[in-house]
Amino acid sequence: MTDKRISVAPMMGMTDRHYRFMASLLCERISLYTPMIHVDAILQSKKNFLEKENKDSRSVAIQIAGNDPISVSAASKVIENCNYNEINLNIGCPSERVQNCKVGAALMDEPKTVGRMVESIRNTCDLPVTIKTRLGIDDFDSYEFLCEFIETTSEYGCDHYILHARKALLNGLSPKENRSIPPINYPRVYKIKEQYSDLKIEINGEIKKTDEIKEHCKYVDGVMIGREACNNPLFLRDIANSIYQDSPMEMTDFFERMFEYILKESNYGTGVHFITRHMTALFKGMSGAKEWRKLVGGLDSKKSSAEDLVKSMKLFVEDRVTQH
Ligand SMILES: Cc1cc2nc3c(=O)[nH]c(=O)nc-3n(C[C@H](O)[C@H](O)[C@H](O)COP(=O)(O)O)c2cc1C
Repeated sequence: MTDKRISVAPMMGMTDRHYRFMASLLCERISLYTPMIHVDAILQSKKNFLEKENKDSRSVAIQIAGNDPISVSAASKVIENCNYNEINLNIGCPSERVQNCKVGAALMDEPKTVGRMVESIRNTCDLPVTIKTRLGIDDFDSYEFLCEFIETTSEYGCDHYILHARKALLNGLSPKENRSIPPINYPRVYKIKEQYSDLKIEINGEIKKTDEIKEHCKYVDGVMIGREACNNPLFLRDIANSIYQDSPMEMTDFFERMFEYILKESNYGTGVHFITRHMTALFKGMSGAKEWRKLVGGLDSKKSSAEDLVKSMKLFVEDRVTQH
């Protein structure tokens, strides 16, 4: 069993509260993040939006984007009372929209601004503050540049970093390309941990197998999984099994809990498709995968009532899961 932290990365359009409900069932101990939420959205919508975002779930980390210590501090006051257990600053997003308002990765070359945001959150609330960032941006990609970012921000009180092990290119690459084209550099992350051993350093980027998690855990304090946790949610069950050495929930019980959740949420007015879209890959690599995908993610799933869809899903699951 590991004492290292394994988490699912913040992912816009993916790690919403429905995904997080499913992920918690598949691996109880995995740490979870909301997708990036701009502090202005928090301040304009007040508490209700954040409470809804984390409705009925266990405490998770919230990822925020901003560039101004005053509004970040005001947002953290709202966050403090809404069942979140960590505030993570996004200093890694390379999207053009984000760059235009100078948040995300564009702030990597302003470590003092980032540090002041960390300080303002720490002065406002007791939640731990973490930073998720890259190894560098554009031509600022030396080891020394990263060290300066970490040293400066840690002087303001950050002691926990999640490093996506590649740099971001702010001009010319889309966010998607920025997740695959700049080369991965795991040794640089290990070196940061070696040099700043008092800081918590977690690694992220292209990690898809439990053996890879075990290997990274030899060098760093935690591993963050991104795309694989959505493309293959059962990976989280493997993590429960082989990293935490827990006995994961039986698949029949898992599906039963998901069906109850779908029916309950549909009574609150949630479109069923917003939940089932996270379930499409649950039979990945197994017989019937295509049929299942069509059943839960196809056009018909949008048209069906929750009761009808759950009935069809139950039939499918009874047929397949009991065979496995
Ligand atoms: C669809 C999508 C949305 C993402 N949204 C965010 C986000 O909101 N905040 C963030 O810090 N990173 C975001 N990321 C980046 C991931 O958190 C992660 O750093 C990246 O995918 C690398 O990890 P992976 O190779 O394991 O996927 C997103 C990635 C994807 C695929």
